[in-house]
Amino acid sequence: MILYFSGTGNSLSAARLLARETGDTAVHVIDLTTHCGTCRGIQDKVIGFVFPVYFGDLPDPVREFVEYTRFAPSTYFYAVATCGGTAGNALYNLKEILEQKRCRLSYGRAVPMIANSTATWKKGVTYDFSRLDEARKKLISIATAVQARTVNTDEARRSLAGSLMATSLVRHMGKRRFAISVDTDACTGCGICERLCPMHNIIIKNGKARVGDRCVSCMACAHWCPSGGILVHGHAISREDQYHHPDIEVKDLFLR
Ligand SMILES: Cc1cc2nc3c(=O)[nH]c(=O)nc-3n(C[C@H](O)[C@H](O)[C@H](O)COP(=O)(O)O)c2cc1C
Ligand code: SF4
Ligand code: SF4
Repeated sequence: MILYFSGTGNSLSAARLLARETGDTAVHVIDLTTHCGTCRGIQDKVIGFVFPVYFGDLPDPVREFVEYTRFAPSTYFYAVATCGGTAGNALYNLKEILEQKRCRLSYGRAVPMIANSTATWKKGVTYDFSRLDEARKKLISIATAVQARTVNTDEARRSLAGSLMATSLVRHMGKRRFAISVDTDACTGCGICERLCPMHNIIIKNGKARVGDRCVSCMACAHWCPSGGILVHGHAISREDQYHHPDIEVKDLFLR
């Protein structure tokens, strides 16, 4: 089973490619949690985790899922951290969490794709889509390595950049920088953000989106809102600057 988390589709497209190449199934971590209820054990012999890097770390929902789920210690675990440039400590931290559960991360790779964070601070972003071609090639080589049950965690080492980003001050500033709110004049109440939000953190009330306090800064709502209704640190991302992986449609990210 390949368990993924994704806001703008990079990790979903990576999970799908890996699933196709390895004959496996890609499942959203949140969908599994929602529909699996209390059966918090997975006995698969091979489990892959595919997720975006946030502040040099893995997303909280992925961390919590791994912490609270029972796995067979003999499972072959692998992980792919999609990122804008560097995975920081994301793979290292996953390796540590698994070790605390007497499990072992056998293989971990960072896959630079396109940073979905750039448009939150910059206008007129030029996305270099050729990076996605490089990412595809890397993912195919990862699939081959997984099928051969390769053991290599060289990229799951602790990094200085990751450790700096993990300090509470930097995290606090980062969270503020990515704070989500709603422009009620622009919001049409279409409901896309409500169906997308992996944290069930957005509801439509009286025809307008309302944001709660469980945001994990995935930026799905901000990049997919068709009307400029979602603000990041007070600013909407323009249609031209919105990013999503070109192979992924909005409905692909709707929670089941
Ligand atoms: C809040 C936030 C923090 C991020 N932090 C990092 C980071 O530390 N390093 C990095 O290379 N990319 C970082 N990114 C970029 C994403 O990891 C990257 O675009 C990822 O592929 C998005 O995956 P998705 O499309 O599946 O959501 C960050 C993005 C967001 C929204
Ligand atoms: S996606 Fe945008 S327009 Fe639609 S409900 Fe959400 S904020 Fe409003
Ligand atoms: S509110 Fe928006 S940015 Fe926050 S978790 Fe939900 S979809 Fe992601």
